[in-house]
Amino acid sequence: MSHRFDFLVLGGGVAGLSFALEAARHGSVAVLTKRARHEGNTQYAQGGVAAVISPADSFEEHIEDTLIAGAGLCHRDAVEVTIREGPARVKELIARGAEFTRAADGELDLTREGAHRKRRVVHAGDMTGREVERALLAACDEQPNIVFFPDTTAIDLIRDRNARTPTVHGVYALRANGTIETFVGRVTILATGGAGKVYLYTTNPDVATGDGVAMAYRAGAQIANMEFYQFHPTALFHPEAKNFLISEALRGEGGKLRLKSGERFMDRYHPLAELGPRDVVARAIDAEMKRTGDEFVYLDMTHLGRAFLAERFPNIYSTCRAFGIDMAVQPIPVVPAAHFQCGGVVTDLFGRTSLPGLYAIGEVACTGLHGANRLASNSLLEGLVFGHRAANAIAPELRSFAFPREDPPPWDVGSAVASDEAVVVTQNWDEIRRLMWNFVGIVRSSKRLMRAHRRLDMLREEIREYYWRFQVTRDVVELRNIADVAHLIVECASRRKESRGLHYTIDYPSKDDHNWLHDTIVSREP
Ligand code: FAD
Ligand code: SIN
Repeated sequence: MSHRFDFLVLGGGVAGLSFALEAARHGSVAVLTKRARHEGNTQYAQGGVAAVISPADSFEEHIEDTLIAGAGLCHRDAVEVTIREGPARVKELIARGAEFTRAADGELDLTREGAHRKRRVVHAGDMTGREVERALLAACDEQPNIVFFPDTTAIDLIRDRNARTPTVHGVYALRANGTIETFVGRVTILATGGAGKVYLYTTNPDVATGDGVAMAYRAGAQIANMEFYQFHPTALFHPEAKNFLISEALRGEGGKLRLKSGERFMDRYHPLAELGPRDVVARAIDAEMKRTGDEFVYLDMTHLGRAFLAERFPNIYSTCRAFGIDMAVQPIPVVPAAHFQCGGVVTDLFGRTSLPGLYAIGEVACTGLHGANRLASNSLLEGLVFGHRAANAIAPELRSFAFPREDPPPWDVGSAVASDEAVVVTQNWDEIRRLMWNFVGIVRSSKRLMRAHRRLDMLREEIREYYWRFQVTRDVVELRNIADVAHLIVECASRRKESRGLHYTIDYPSKDDHNWLHDTIVSREP
Protein backbone atom coordinates (compact mmCIF):
# COMPACT_ATOMS: atom_id res chain seq x y z
CA MET A 1 0.00 0.00 0.00
CA SER A 2 1.21 3.49 -0.81
CA HIS A 3 0.36 6.85 0.83
CA ARG A 4 1.06 10.33 -0.58
CA PHE A 5 1.25 13.59 1.42
CA ASP A 6 2.80 17.00 0.84
CA PHE A 7 4.59 16.85 4.20
CA LEU A 8 5.72 13.58 5.71
CA VAL A 9 6.58 14.10 9.38
CA LEU A 10 8.36 11.29 11.20
CA GLY A 11 7.70 11.89 14.89
CA GLY A 12 4.97 13.38 17.06
CA GLY A 13 6.95 15.18 19.79
CA VAL A 14 7.31 18.93 20.27
CA ALA A 15 9.29 19.35 17.03
CA GLY A 16 7.11 17.21 14.74
CA LEU A 17 3.82 18.61 16.03
CA SER A 18 5.03 22.24 15.94
CA PHE A 19 6.02 21.65 12.34
CA ALA A 20 2.73 19.90 11.47
CA LEU A 21 0.61 22.73 12.84
CA GLU A 22 2.35 25.32 10.65
CA ALA A 23 2.58 23.05 7.59
CA ALA A 24 -1.13 22.14 7.71
CA ARG A 25 -1.94 25.66 6.52
CA HIS A 26 -0.19 24.90 3.24
CA GLY A 27 -0.81 21.24 2.39
CA SER A 28 -1.57 17.71 3.54
CA VAL A 29 0.46 16.39 6.49
CA ALA A 30 1.08 12.83 7.70
CA VAL A 31 2.54 12.35 11.19
CA LEU A 32 4.03 8.90 11.80
CA THR A 33 4.73 7.82 15.37
CA LYS A 34 6.41 4.60 16.40
CA ARG A 35 4.06 3.79 19.27
CA ALA A 36 1.15 5.79 20.74
CA ARG A 37 0.90 9.39 19.45
CA HIS A 38 2.17 10.96 22.67
CA GLU A 39 5.04 8.55 23.36
CA GLY A 40 8.44 10.24 23.06
CA ASN A 41 10.89 12.31 25.08
CA THR A 42 8.62 15.36 24.99
CA GLN A 43 5.98 13.61 27.09
CA TYR A 44 8.49 13.06 29.93
CA ALA A 45 10.07 16.53 30.06
CA GLN A 46 9.94 17.83 33.59
CA GLY A 47 11.88 21.07 34.15
CA GLY A 48 10.39 23.31 31.47
CA VAL A 49 11.00 25.59 28.50
CA ALA A 50 13.75 28.21 28.80
CA ALA A 51 12.75 31.58 27.36
CA VAL A 52 13.37 35.24 28.04
CA ILE A 53 10.04 36.23 29.58
CA SER A 54 10.97 38.20 32.69
CA PRO A 55 11.78 41.92 32.36
CA ALA A 56 14.75 41.19 34.64
CA ASP A 57 16.19 38.86 31.98
CA SER A 58 17.67 39.62 28.56
CA PHE A 59 18.37 37.85 25.25
CA GLU A 60 22.05 38.61 25.71
CA GLU A 61 22.18 36.77 29.04
CA HIS A 62 20.33 33.69 27.76
CA ILE A 63 22.59 33.67 24.68
CA GLU A 64 25.67 33.98 26.86
CA ASP A 65 24.57 31.14 29.18
CA THR A 66 23.92 28.90 26.16
CA LEU A 67 27.32 29.69 24.64
CA ILE A 68 29.14 29.03 27.92
CA ALA A 69 27.40 25.66 28.39
CA GLY A 70 28.22 24.75 24.76
CA ALA A 71 31.97 25.03 25.52
CA GLY A 72 32.97 26.87 22.34
CA LEU A 73 31.10 24.79 19.77
CA CYS A 74 27.69 26.48 19.60
CA HIS A 75 26.93 28.20 16.31
CA ARG A 76 26.15 31.73 17.33
CA ASP A 77 23.53 32.20 14.59
CA ALA A 78 21.56 29.13 15.75
CA VAL A 79 21.73 30.35 19.34
CA GLU A 80 20.55 33.83 18.36
CA VAL A 81 17.51 32.67 16.35
CA THR A 82 16.43 30.15 18.97
CA ILE A 83 16.62 32.53 21.88
CA ARG A 84 15.28 35.60 20.11
CA GLU A 85 12.32 33.72 18.56
CA GLY A 86 11.71 31.63 21.70
CA PRO A 87 9.35 33.94 23.62
CA ALA A 88 7.02 34.30 20.60
CA ARG A 89 6.85 30.50 20.24
CA VAL A 90 6.07 30.07 23.95
CA LYS A 91 3.27 32.65 23.67
CA GLU A 92 1.94 30.83 20.59
CA LEU A 93 1.94 27.57 22.54
CA ILE A 94 -0.06 29.24 25.31
CA ALA A 95 -2.48 30.59 22.70
CA ARG A 96 -2.83 27.02 21.44
CA GLY A 97 -4.00 25.97 24.88
CA ALA A 98 -0.92 25.04 26.94
CA GLU A 99 -1.39 25.84 30.62
CA PHE A 100 1.75 26.65 32.55
CA THR A 101 2.17 27.25 36.27
CA ARG A 102 1.49 30.84 37.29
CA ALA A 103 2.54 32.86 40.33
CA ALA A 104 0.02 34.47 42.71
CA ASP A 105 0.00 37.64 40.54
CA GLY A 106 -1.07 35.63 37.46
CA GLU A 107 2.29 35.97 35.72
CA LEU A 108 4.13 32.86 34.52
CA ASP A 109 6.09 31.25 37.34
CA LEU A 110 9.72 31.03 36.22
CA THR A 111 12.03 28.44 37.70
CA ARG A 112 15.80 28.02 37.51
CA GLU A 113 18.07 25.22 36.37
CA GLY A 114 21.81 24.58 36.20
CA ALA A 115 24.03 27.14 34.41
CA HIS A 116 21.16 29.62 33.93
CA ARG A 117 22.02 32.92 35.60
CA LYS A 118 18.35 33.96 35.72
CA ARG A 119 15.02 32.34 36.53
CA ARG A 120 13.70 31.84 33.01
CA VAL A 121 12.21 28.36 32.82
CA VAL A 122 8.46 28.25 32.08
CA HIS A 123 6.96 25.06 33.50
CA ALA A 124 3.78 23.11 34.19
CA GLY A 125 4.60 21.87 37.70
CA ASP A 126 7.14 19.11 37.09
CA MET A 127 5.20 17.67 34.12
CA THR A 128 5.90 20.30 31.51
CA GLY A 129 6.31 17.86 28.63
CA ARG A 130 2.99 16.20 29.27
CA GLU A 131 1.23 19.57 29.03
CA VAL A 132 3.15 20.65 25.91
CA GLU A 133 2.35 17.35 24.19
CA ARG A 134 -1.31 17.48 25.26
CA ALA A 135 -1.78 21.01 23.97
CA LEU A 136 -0.04 20.33 20.63
CA LEU A 137 -1.97 17.10 20.00
CA ALA A 138 -5.25 18.84 20.79
CA ALA A 139 -4.37 21.66 18.37
CA CYS A 140 -3.47 19.11 15.66
CA ASP A 141 -6.81 17.37 16.15
CA GLU A 142 -8.51 20.60 15.08
CA GLN A 143 -6.70 20.47 11.72
CA PRO A 144 -8.35 18.30 9.06
CA ASN A 145 -5.13 18.46 7.00
CA ILE A 146 -3.17 16.45 9.60
CA VAL A 147 -3.46 12.65 9.59
CA PHE A 148 -1.77 10.55 12.31
CA PHE A 149 -0.32 7.09 11.74
CA PRO A 150 0.44 5.71 15.23
CA ASP A 151 2.27 2.40 15.70
CA THR A 152 4.05 3.02 12.41
CA THR A 153 7.82 2.61 12.40
CA ALA A 154 9.82 4.27 9.64
CA ILE A 155 12.46 1.77 8.52
CA ASP A 156 14.45 3.46 5.77
CA LEU A 157 14.34 6.59 3.67
CA ILE A 158 13.37 6.29 0.00
CA ARG A 159 15.94 7.94 -2.26
CA ASP A 160 15.96 8.69 -5.95
CA ARG A 161 19.26 7.03 -6.80
CA ASN A 162 19.33 8.51 -10.30
CA ALA A 163 19.89 12.06 -9.08
CA ARG A 164 23.52 13.10 -8.41
CA THR A 165 22.70 13.96 -4.82
CA PRO A 166 20.01 11.45 -3.91
CA THR A 167 16.70 13.23 -3.31
CA VAL A 168 14.57 11.87 -0.46
CA HIS A 169 10.99 11.05 -1.44
CA GLY A 170 9.65 9.41 1.73
CA VAL A 171 10.01 6.25 3.80
CA TYR A 172 9.16 2.60 4.03
CA ALA A 173 7.34 2.03 7.31
CA LEU A 174 6.26 -0.98 9.33
CA ARG A 175 2.59 -0.87 10.38
CA ALA A 176 1.16 -2.48 13.51
CA ASN A 177 -0.22 -5.40 11.46
CA GLY A 178 3.28 -6.29 10.25
CA THR A 179 2.92 -4.96 6.69
CA ILE A 180 5.48 -2.56 5.24
CA GLU A 181 3.91 0.38 3.44
CA THR A 182 5.31 3.16 1.28
CA PHE A 183 4.88 6.77 2.41
CA VAL A 184 5.74 9.31 -0.27
CA GLY A 185 6.14 13.02 0.52
CA ARG A 186 7.19 16.18 -1.29
CA VAL A 187 9.36 16.71 1.77
CA THR A 188 10.28 14.32 4.57
CA ILE A 189 10.85 15.71 8.05
CA LEU A 190 12.86 13.76 10.59
CA ALA A 191 11.51 14.62 14.06
CA THR A 192 12.34 11.27 15.61
CA GLY A 193 13.98 12.52 18.81
CA GLY A 194 17.03 11.13 20.60
CA ALA A 195 18.80 7.85 21.21
CA GLY A 196 19.08 7.34 24.97
CA LYS A 197 18.36 3.62 24.54
CA VAL A 198 21.85 3.23 23.09
CA TYR A 199 22.99 3.31 26.73
CA LEU A 200 22.19 0.84 29.49
CA TYR A 201 20.87 3.54 31.83
CA THR A 202 18.83 6.37 30.41
CA THR A 203 16.05 8.80 31.27
CA ASN A 204 14.55 8.24 27.80
CA PRO A 205 11.49 6.11 26.98
CA ASP A 206 11.73 2.99 24.78
CA VAL A 207 11.07 4.81 21.48
CA ALA A 208 14.36 6.75 21.77
CA THR A 209 16.52 4.49 19.60
CA GLY A 210 18.06 7.09 17.29
CA ASP A 211 16.10 5.94 14.22
CA GLY A 212 16.28 9.30 12.46
CA VAL A 213 20.04 9.67 12.74
CA ALA A 214 20.55 6.06 11.66
CA MET A 215 18.24 6.37 8.64
CA ALA A 216 19.80 9.68 7.58
CA TYR A 217 23.32 8.26 7.95
CA ARG A 218 22.48 5.22 5.84
CA ALA A 219 21.01 7.54 3.21
CA GLY A 220 24.25 9.55 3.05
CA ALA A 221 23.33 12.68 5.07
CA GLN A 222 25.93 14.53 7.12
CA ILE A 223 25.89 13.73 10.84
CA ALA A 224 27.76 15.78 13.45
CA ASN A 225 28.95 15.86 17.06
CA MET A 226 27.64 12.48 18.16
CA GLU A 227 30.38 12.28 20.81
CA PHE A 228 28.45 14.86 22.84
CA TYR A 229 25.85 12.66 24.51
CA GLN A 230 24.51 14.40 27.59
CA PHE A 231 24.23 12.47 30.86
CA HIS A 232 21.69 13.91 33.26
CA PRO A 233 23.24 13.99 36.75
CA THR A 234 20.16 12.82 38.64
CA ALA A 235 18.01 9.85 37.69
CA LEU A 236 16.30 8.00 40.54
CA PHE A 237 18.37 5.08 41.84
CA HIS A 238 15.89 2.28 42.51
CA PRO A 239 15.76 -1.21 41.01
CA GLU A 240 12.17 -0.75 39.77
CA ALA A 241 12.29 2.92 38.74
CA LYS A 242 12.96 2.50 35.05
CA ASN A 243 14.10 5.79 33.48
CA PHE A 244 12.66 8.10 36.15
CA LEU A 245 14.24 11.55 36.12
CA ILE A 246 14.74 13.75 39.17
CA SER A 247 14.53 17.17 37.55
CA GLU A 248 17.35 19.68 37.62
CA ALA A 249 14.71 22.16 38.79
CA LEU A 250 15.08 20.53 42.23
CA ARG A 251 18.63 21.81 42.37
CA GLY A 252 17.35 25.09 40.90
CA GLU A 253 15.04 25.40 43.92
CA GLY A 254 17.85 24.67 46.40
CA GLY A 255 18.49 20.89 46.36
CA LYS A 256 21.92 19.81 47.64
CA LEU A 257 23.98 16.85 46.50
CA ARG A 258 25.50 14.82 49.32
CA LEU A 259 27.55 11.69 49.80
CA LYS A 260 26.18 8.88 51.97
CA SER A 261 28.14 10.46 54.86
CA GLY A 262 26.04 13.61 54.44
CA GLU A 263 29.02 15.63 53.14
CA ARG A 264 28.39 18.07 50.25
CA PHE A 265 30.90 17.86 47.42
CA MET A 266 29.87 20.02 44.46
CA ASP A 267 31.70 23.14 45.67
CA ARG A 268 34.94 21.20 45.10
CA TYR A 269 34.05 20.91 41.39
CA HIS A 270 32.45 24.19 40.29
CA PRO A 271 31.93 27.71 41.69
CA LEU A 272 28.19 27.35 41.05
CA ALA A 273 28.22 24.04 43.02
CA GLU A 274 24.94 22.14 42.36
CA LEU A 275 24.03 24.67 39.67
CA GLY A 276 27.14 24.11 37.59
CA PRO A 277 26.74 22.90 33.98
CA ARG A 278 25.36 19.39 33.58
CA ASP A 279 28.58 17.84 32.25
CA VAL A 280 30.50 19.05 35.31
CA VAL A 281 27.86 17.84 37.78
CA ALA A 282 27.49 14.40 36.11
CA ARG A 283 31.28 13.93 36.04
CA ALA A 284 31.59 15.01 39.67
CA ILE A 285 28.96 12.46 40.77
CA ASP A 286 30.66 9.77 38.69
CA ALA A 287 34.04 10.61 40.25
CA GLU A 288 32.62 10.60 43.79
CA MET A 289 30.86 7.27 43.23
CA LYS A 290 34.13 5.76 41.95
CA ARG A 291 36.13 7.26 44.84
CA THR A 292 33.76 6.10 47.57
CA GLY A 293 32.61 2.84 45.93
CA ASP A 294 28.99 3.87 46.52
CA GLU A 295 26.33 3.05 43.95
CA PHE A 296 24.64 6.46 44.19
CA VAL A 297 24.76 9.89 45.80
CA TYR A 298 21.92 11.73 47.49
CA LEU A 299 19.91 14.75 46.45
CA ASP A 300 18.71 16.40 49.61
CA MET A 301 15.51 18.46 49.52
CA THR A 302 14.50 17.96 53.13
CA HIS A 303 15.15 21.59 54.15
CA LEU A 304 12.46 22.83 51.75
CA GLY A 305 9.46 21.41 53.57
CA ARG A 306 6.68 19.01 52.61
CA ALA A 307 4.11 21.60 51.53
CA PHE A 308 6.44 23.25 49.04
CA LEU A 309 7.77 19.95 47.64
CA ALA A 310 4.36 18.36 47.18
CA GLU A 311 2.98 21.44 45.45
CA ARG A 312 5.96 22.36 43.30
CA PHE A 313 7.00 18.81 42.30
CA PRO A 314 3.83 16.72 42.50
CA ASN A 315 4.99 14.03 40.05
CA ILE A 316 8.43 13.56 41.58
CA TYR A 317 7.02 13.70 45.11
CA SER A 318 4.38 11.04 44.45
CA THR A 319 6.65 8.82 42.33
CA CYS A 320 9.33 8.83 45.05
CA ARG A 321 6.65 8.00 47.62
CA ALA A 322 5.47 5.09 45.48
CA PHE A 323 9.04 3.76 45.67
CA GLY A 324 9.10 4.20 49.45
CA ILE A 325 11.08 7.46 49.50
CA ASP A 326 9.59 10.42 51.35
CA MET A 327 11.61 13.31 49.94
CA ALA A 328 10.36 15.67 52.62
CA VAL A 329 12.30 13.76 55.27
CA GLN A 330 14.78 11.56 53.32
CA PRO A 331 17.35 12.48 50.67
CA ILE A 332 16.70 10.93 47.24
CA PRO A 333 19.26 8.38 45.93
CA VAL A 334 20.34 9.45 42.43
CA VAL A 335 22.75 8.42 39.65
CA PRO A 336 23.62 9.92 36.24
CA ALA A 337 21.90 8.48 33.14
CA ALA A 338 22.07 9.10 29.36
CA HIS A 339 19.64 11.89 28.58
CA PHE A 340 20.09 14.02 25.45
CA GLN A 341 21.75 13.77 22.07
CA CYS A 342 23.50 17.09 21.37
CA GLY A 343 24.72 16.02 17.93
CA GLY A 344 22.62 14.64 15.10
CA VAL A 345 21.70 15.24 11.48
CA VAL A 346 23.41 18.43 10.30
CA THR A 347 20.97 21.19 9.35
CA ASP A 348 20.97 24.86 8.50
CA LEU A 349 18.81 27.41 10.30
CA PHE A 350 15.69 26.13 8.51
CA GLY A 351 16.10 22.42 9.20
CA ARG A 352 17.51 21.61 5.73
CA THR A 353 19.86 18.63 5.76
CA SER A 354 22.57 17.85 3.21
CA LEU A 355 20.07 15.71 1.22
CA PRO A 356 17.44 17.43 -0.97
CA GLY A 357 13.90 16.78 0.27
CA LEU A 358 15.06 15.83 3.78
CA TYR A 359 14.68 18.08 6.84
CA ALA A 360 15.53 17.42 10.48
CA ILE A 361 14.16 19.21 13.55
CA GLY A 362 14.26 18.72 17.33
CA GLU A 363 16.59 16.35 19.15
CA VAL A 364 17.46 14.38 16.00
CA ALA A 365 19.00 17.51 14.43
CA CYS A 366 22.34 19.19 14.94
CA THR A 367 21.48 22.84 14.35
CA GLY A 368 24.49 24.22 16.18
CA LEU A 369 22.43 25.39 19.17
CA HIS A 370 23.90 23.04 21.77
CA GLY A 371 27.57 22.81 20.82
CA ALA A 372 29.41 20.44 23.14
CA ASN A 373 26.80 20.56 25.93
CA ARG A 374 23.15 21.63 26.03
CA LEU A 375 21.88 24.20 28.48
CA ALA A 376 18.95 22.76 30.48
CA SER A 377 15.48 23.38 29.03
CA ASN A 378 16.79 24.66 25.70
CA SER A 379 15.53 21.62 23.78
CA LEU A 380 11.77 22.00 24.06
CA LEU A 381 12.52 25.55 22.96
CA GLU A 382 14.55 24.33 20.00
CA GLY A 383 11.71 22.00 18.93
CA LEU A 384 9.19 24.86 19.01
CA VAL A 385 11.44 27.30 17.15
CA PHE A 386 12.80 24.96 14.47
CA GLY A 387 9.45 23.24 13.86
CA HIS A 388 8.04 26.68 13.07
CA ARG A 389 11.05 27.86 11.05
CA ALA A 390 11.27 24.75 8.88
CA ALA A 391 7.55 24.72 7.99
CA ASN A 392 7.55 28.39 7.10
CA ALA A 393 10.68 28.05 5.00
CA ILE A 394 9.29 25.13 2.97
CA ALA A 395 5.75 26.46 2.51
CA PRO A 396 6.43 29.17 -0.13
CA GLU A 397 8.40 26.73 -2.29
CA LEU A 398 6.38 23.59 -1.61
CA ARG A 399 5.43 23.05 -5.29
CA SER A 400 9.09 23.04 -6.25
CA PHE A 401 9.49 19.82 -4.25
CA ALA A 402 8.13 17.39 -6.80
CA PHE A 403 6.65 13.99 -6.02
CA PRO A 404 8.64 11.24 -7.75
CA ARG A 405 7.40 10.67 -11.33
CA GLU A 406 6.71 7.02 -10.56
CA ASP A 407 5.73 5.48 -7.27
CA PRO A 408 8.81 3.95 -5.59
CA PRO A 409 8.89 0.15 -5.74
CA PRO A 410 7.25 -1.58 -2.77
CA TRP A 411 9.50 -2.90 0.00
CA ASP A 412 11.19 -6.07 -1.16
CA VAL A 413 10.42 -8.82 1.37
CA GLY A 414 12.56 -11.24 -0.65
CA SER A 415 12.83 -14.61 1.06
CA ALA A 416 12.68 -13.20 4.61
CA VAL A 417 11.05 -15.52 7.11
CA ALA A 418 9.82 -15.07 10.67
CA SER A 419 12.75 -15.54 13.04
CA ASP A 420 12.52 -18.01 15.90
CA GLU A 421 15.77 -16.57 17.28
CA ALA A 422 14.45 -13.57 19.22
CA VAL A 423 17.13 -14.29 21.80
CA VAL A 424 19.79 -13.15 19.31
CA VAL A 425 18.15 -9.74 19.03
CA THR A 426 17.82 -9.40 22.81
CA GLN A 427 21.41 -10.46 23.35
CA ASN A 428 22.73 -7.95 20.79
CA TRP A 429 20.61 -5.14 22.27
CA ASP A 430 21.95 -5.82 25.77
CA GLU A 431 25.51 -6.11 24.57
CA ILE A 432 25.48 -2.79 22.73
CA ARG A 433 23.87 -0.89 25.59
CA ARG A 434 26.26 -2.32 28.18
CA LEU A 435 29.28 -1.76 25.94
CA MET A 436 28.29 1.87 25.41
CA TRP A 437 27.73 2.43 29.12
CA ASN A 438 31.05 0.88 30.16
CA PHE A 439 33.34 2.06 27.36
CA VAL A 440 31.73 5.17 25.87
CA GLY A 441 30.07 6.75 28.90
CA ILE A 442 30.83 9.77 31.09
CA VAL A 443 34.59 9.08 31.15
CA ARG A 444 36.31 7.62 28.08
CA SER A 445 39.78 6.51 26.99
CA SER A 446 41.37 5.72 23.63
CA LYS A 447 41.70 2.06 24.58
CA ARG A 448 38.04 1.73 25.59
CA LEU A 449 36.93 3.49 22.42
CA MET A 450 39.06 1.19 20.28
CA ARG A 451 37.56 -1.89 21.94
CA ALA A 452 34.05 -0.53 21.50
CA HIS A 453 34.83 0.15 17.83
CA ARG A 454 36.01 -3.42 17.21
CA ARG A 455 33.13 -5.04 18.99
CA LEU A 456 30.57 -2.82 17.27
CA ASP A 457 32.02 -3.64 13.85
CA MET A 458 31.41 -7.33 14.58
CA LEU A 459 27.94 -6.75 15.93
CA ARG A 460 26.94 -4.59 12.96
CA GLU A 461 28.18 -7.25 10.59
CA GLU A 462 26.13 -9.90 12.44
CA ILE A 463 23.04 -7.69 12.37
CA ARG A 464 23.51 -6.98 8.63
CA GLU A 465 23.63 -10.73 7.98
CA TYR A 466 20.38 -11.58 9.66
CA TYR A 467 18.60 -8.30 8.83
CA TRP A 468 17.66 -9.40 5.35
CA ARG A 469 17.00 -13.04 6.26
CA PHE A 470 14.35 -12.40 8.88
CA GLN A 471 11.00 -10.74 8.65
CA VAL A 472 11.28 -7.10 9.71
CA THR A 473 10.02 -6.43 13.23
CA ARG A 474 10.24 -3.26 15.30
CA ASP A 475 12.86 -4.85 17.56
CA VAL A 476 15.10 -5.70 14.62
CA VAL A 477 14.68 -2.23 13.08
CA GLU A 478 15.58 -0.61 16.40
CA LEU A 479 18.52 -2.91 16.96
CA ARG A 480 20.03 -2.02 13.59
CA ASN A 481 19.52 1.66 14.45
CA ILE A 482 21.08 1.58 17.92
CA ALA A 483 24.04 -0.29 16.43
CA ASP A 484 24.49 2.43 13.77
CA VAL A 485 24.10 5.23 16.31
CA ALA A 486 26.54 3.55 18.72
CA HIS A 487 29.00 3.32 15.83
CA LEU A 488 28.57 7.06 15.11
CA ILE A 489 29.11 8.02 18.77
CA VAL A 490 32.28 5.93 18.94
CA GLU A 491 33.50 7.22 15.58
CA CYS A 492 33.05 10.88 16.57
CA ALA A 493 34.49 10.28 20.06
CA SER A 494 37.55 8.54 18.62
CA ARG A 495 38.26 11.41 16.25
CA ARG A 496 38.15 14.12 18.92
CA LYS A 497 41.57 14.11 20.60
CA GLU A 498 40.69 16.49 23.44
CA SER A 499 38.16 16.82 26.25
CA ARG A 500 35.39 19.36 25.74
CA GLY A 501 31.88 19.66 27.18
CA LEU A 502 30.30 16.22 27.30
CA HIS A 503 33.24 14.41 25.75
CA TYR A 504 35.82 13.60 28.41
CA THR A 505 38.75 11.26 27.75
CA ILE A 506 41.54 10.50 30.21
CA ASP A 507 44.06 10.37 27.33
CA TYR A 508 43.42 14.00 26.31
CA PRO A 509 42.06 15.57 29.50
CA SER A 510 42.31 19.22 28.34
CA LYS A 511 40.48 21.37 25.85
CA ASP A 512 42.49 22.03 22.69
CA ASP A 513 41.07 25.10 20.93
CA HIS A 514 43.95 25.21 18.51
CA ASN A 515 43.03 21.90 16.85
CA TRP A 516 39.47 21.06 17.86
CA LEU A 517 37.34 24.18 17.88
CA HIS A 518 35.08 22.68 15.22
CA ASP A 519 32.28 20.14 14.74
CA THR A 520 33.00 16.47 14.11
CA ILE A 521 31.23 15.69 10.84
CA VAL A 522 30.78 12.17 9.43
CA SER A 523 28.90 10.80 6.46
CA ARG A 524 29.04 7.70 4.35
CA GLU A 525 28.58 6.99 0.69
CA PRO A 526 24.84 6.34 0.17
P1 FAD B 1 10.45 13.32 20.85
O1 FAD B 1 9.57 14.09 21.74
O2 FAD B 1 11.33 12.31 21.47
O3 FAD B 1 9.53 12.61 19.78
C1 FAD B 1 10.07 11.67 18.89
C2 FAD B 1 8.95 11.11 18.05
O4 FAD B 1 9.51 10.35 16.99
C3 FAD B 1 8.01 10.17 18.79
O5 FAD B 1 6.70 10.46 18.36
C4 FAD B 1 8.43 8.79 18.30
O6 FAD B 1 7.39 7.86 18.27
C5 FAD B 1 8.82 9.13 16.87
N1 FAD B 1 9.71 8.17 16.25
C6 FAD B 1 10.95 7.78 16.62
N2 FAD B 1 11.44 6.88 15.76
C7 FAD B 1 10.49 6.69 14.81
C8 FAD B 1 10.37 5.88 13.67
N3 FAD B 1 11.34 5.04 13.29
N4 FAD B 1 9.24 5.92 12.94
C9 FAD B 1 8.21 6.74 13.30
N5 FAD B 1 8.26 7.54 14.38
C10 FAD B 1 9.39 7.52 15.11
N6 FAD B 1 14.02 19.34 27.50
C11 FAD B 1 13.69 20.58 27.89
O7 FAD B 1 13.86 21.53 27.14
N7 FAD B 1 13.15 20.77 29.12
C12 FAD B 1 12.92 19.75 29.99
O8 FAD B 1 12.41 19.97 31.07
C13 FAD B 1 13.29 18.43 29.60
N8 FAD B 1 13.11 17.40 30.44
C14 FAD B 1 13.36 16.13 29.98
C15 FAD B 1 13.06 15.05 30.80
C16 FAD B 1 13.21 13.76 30.32
C17 FAD B 1 12.89 12.59 31.21
C18 FAD B 1 13.67 13.56 29.00
C19 FAD B 1 13.83 12.16 28.47
C20 FAD B 1 14.00 14.63 28.21
C21 FAD B 1 13.83 15.92 28.68
N9 FAD B 1 14.13 17.02 27.89
C22 FAD B 1 13.82 18.27 28.31
C23 FAD B 1 14.56 16.85 26.51
C24 FAD B 1 13.35 17.05 25.59
O9 FAD B 1 12.23 16.44 26.19
C25 FAD B 1 13.57 16.43 24.24
O10 FAD B 1 14.80 16.81 23.71
C26 FAD B 1 12.49 16.89 23.27
O11 FAD B 1 11.22 16.66 23.83
C27 FAD B 1 12.63 16.14 21.96
O12 FAD B 1 11.51 16.43 21.18
P2 FAD B 1 11.44 15.82 19.72
O13 FAD B 1 10.15 16.32 19.15
O14 FAD B 1 12.68 16.09 18.99
O15 FAD B 1 11.38 14.24 19.95
C1 SIN C 1 15.17 18.38 33.94
O1 SIN C 1 14.03 18.67 34.30
O2 SIN C 1 16.13 18.25 34.70
C2 SIN C 1 15.41 18.17 32.49
C3 SIN C 1 15.65 19.45 31.85
C4 SIN C 1 16.29 19.27 30.52
O3 SIN C 1 16.76 18.19 30.20
O4 SIN C 1 16.34 20.25 29.78
